[in-house]
Amino acid sequence: MIKKELTNDIYMFSMNLEDLLFESMWELPHGVTMNSYIVKGEKTAIIDGVIGWNGVPETLYEILGEIDISPDDIDYVVINHMEPDHSGWIEDFKQIKDDFTIITTEKGKPLVEAFYGDDLTIKVVQEGDSLALGNGKELTFHPIPNVHWPETMVTYETTSKILFTCDMYGAFGTIDQHIFDDEMTPEETQLYEAESVRYFSNVLTTFSPMVKRAITKTKELDIKMIAPGHGPLYRDNPNKIIEDYTTYTKYASGFGKKEVTILWGSMYGSTKRAVEYAEKILKDAGVKVNLLRLPYATESDIVTNVFRSAGVIIAASTYEYRMFPPVAHAIDELGRKKITNKQALYFGSYGWNPGAERDLNNILDNYRMKWQFVEPVNFAGEATPDKLKEIKQQINLLLENMQEKLL
Ligand code: FEO
Repeated sequence: MIKKELTNDIYMFSMNLEDLLFESMWELPHGVTMNSYIVKGEKTAIIDGVIGWNGVPETLYEILGEIDISPDDIDYVVINHMEPDHSGWIEDFKQIKDDFTIITTEKGKPLVEAFYGDDLTIKVVQEGDSLALGNGKELTFHPIPNVHWPETMVTYETTSKILFTCDMYGAFGTIDQHIFDDEMTPEETQLYEAESVRYFSNVLTTFSPMVKRAITKTKELDIKMIAPGHGPLYRDNPNKIIEDYTTYTKYASGFGKKEVTILWGSMYGSTKRAVEYAEKILKDAGVKVNLLRLPYATESDIVTNVFRSAGVIIAASTYEYRMFPPVAHAIDELGRKKITNKQALYFGSYGWNPGAERDLNNILDNYRMKWQFVEPVNFAGEATPDKLKEIKQQINLLLENMQEKLL
């Protein structure tokens, strides 16, 4: 666990977690951090907890000792967000201390009781409420509903102007020693930028309209440092992550980088050969291509790449009169994530009947995805030279349509 004093009597503890599926489903090639904060005045508050996935916080207690705080000194537990990656340690904490006050929003109170029992002291806070801790430390509370659950809020320390944002402005990626934006090497900056896209797309995309509102609210505060619950801290240029998050909300509604993600699945190679042809056309046009073969690509990579790309190609054969199931599953997941208005092309091989396209349209309609497709190209068996020519023409149209969506 990393321990760092952010400023006088405000500390961060961060634990790296690797080899896990985040939310039990998202593969994390670079892991994730769990960040927790202590604000020490005459009274002491802990903002979000740090636990391992098994909920054992002994390491937190040990490291508190290094700054002369015992768990018994904690007066307030600020719950910015009730999801158990941040709150799960309370179950253990209440076994060793029974006189602390939980600070949460109105919507957080019933959740605290549902998860951790109705025998806890809870103080409900509204927008702008404040809590003086003494010695010049004061916290104010600002609900940002649905980033990521309905009860979420951010907490602001008025003297240091540090904003504790929990899931908001978070990123995946473990941290070694460089926790601040100004300490990063160029490679680390690049990694955390990519991992913040992965984090946003995997965890927050569904709530992009609420993230937009939260961005507006946080911009009203005079922020010197952004201290999220996952990933690095931003003190040199807090505005950078705010701007990045603004961009990500646009990725969720059809904008993207000059990249085409090809989600493809092929049973016996006919669709695969058409994919290879499409890849060459795109590369010759100077477009970055993300090839994701299903069912081998991870759910996390599928969502991240499609989210970031201005263009998408769905290439899937027909299977039992419907779309090759792993590709259908991927589109279904993108629908659940509310990734809308992408520019797209479908092509694929069929034997008896081109049912994949019909299946695709059903999924798109079901989730009201509003993707804008150029003409699909279905081909029986192997794609003929004429069919490949059609694919080329439709790719060129796709690239034209992407022009207005590039960020
Ligand atoms: Fe990091 Fe929504 O929990």
